[in-house]
Amino acid sequence: MSPVTTRPRIAVTGRIPTPGLEELRLIGDVWEWEHDAPPDPPTVYAAVNGVDAAVTLLTTKVDNTFLDAAGPQLKVVANVAVGYNNIDVAACAARNVIVTNTPGVLTDATADLAMALILMATRRLAEGERVIRSQTSWQWGMFYLLGTSLQGRRLGIIGMGDIGIAVARRARAFGMEIAYANRRRVPPELEAELGATFMATDDLLATSDVVTLHCPYSPDTHHLMNSATLARMRPTAFLVNTSRGPVVDEAALVKALEHGVIAGAGLDVFEHEPDVNPGLLRCENAVLVPHLGSATVETRTAMAVLAARNAVAVLSGLSPLTPVMRPV
Ligand code: DGY
Repeated sequence: MSPVTTRPRIAVTGRIPTPGLEELRLIGDVWEWEHDAPPDPPTVYAAVNGVDAAVTLLTTKVDNTFLDAAGPQLKVVANVAVGYNNIDVAACAARNVIVTNTPGVLTDATADLAMALILMATRRLAEGERVIRSQTSWQWGMFYLLGTSLQGRRLGIIGMGDIGIAVARRARAFGMEIAYANRRRVPPELEAELGATFMATDDLLATSDVVTLHCPYSPDTHHLMNSATLARMRPTAFLVNTSRGPVVDEAALVKALEHGVIAGAGLDVFEHEPDVNPGLLRCENAVLVPHLGSATVETRTAMAVLAARNAVAVLSGLSPLTPVMRPV
């Protein structure tokens, strides 16, 4: 008699590209959420009940309630995102559940988007587009919708991980000078290649023409940009955020934009997504896009495949490719 082998059960709590699903289906029985809008928590809890692996999107909150609903056989939560602030990592660790994320594969797409927001904000492109779309009359003029040049200006990067570094490379190609604030200095060769100057955050804020945020969200970075830190920026400077919304105190940002404390902002992420502070909608000098940092076909496919491979590795008794932490 051949031994009975049971296929692992896997729940995918948001719609992901097919290549990721295919990798999962090779080894397990897969439940997948097929809609673009995320499932509500009761649907998630019912779906994860009894699964061995959960593949989650950043719209799924993985906390003790989720883990209780899943049960003790859960081995891995594979997040389809580099950020994992939707996951209570300590709660997972306490239950020996491995958490993985998708670093690397979205670096270029996110850096491209940050650069796009820098250009949009400094060159007032969204304002210009609104003029055309609203059929407002306009006329070329020497002083019409003047923006700010990037050449010779300082880009201050807060968070010099893979994405911060990729933004620095792009900004160099636009003639910008690079400053960065980070927990640790990057290697001297990289500083030399990027012409990057390591600075305390306060000095970076006070001397940069554009400040771009690339730090993970945590209690330490909650409202990193608030009325005090915004006031340290130059009145001619711009703030760009492609990290996580709550790194910026949105109410303080609205005041700063309305009162000329800073010149403008480019935001891909919001404090209470998908809601956007109504004050921001009033600010002509804010460029607002709906969390599109990794939103290319290629990148989202690579994210789904990497998350699936992480789940498959753990279910096969192997080490995950990109763990956030290992169980204690
Ligand atoms: C991430 O991976 O953390 C991004 O925010 C998703 O686009």
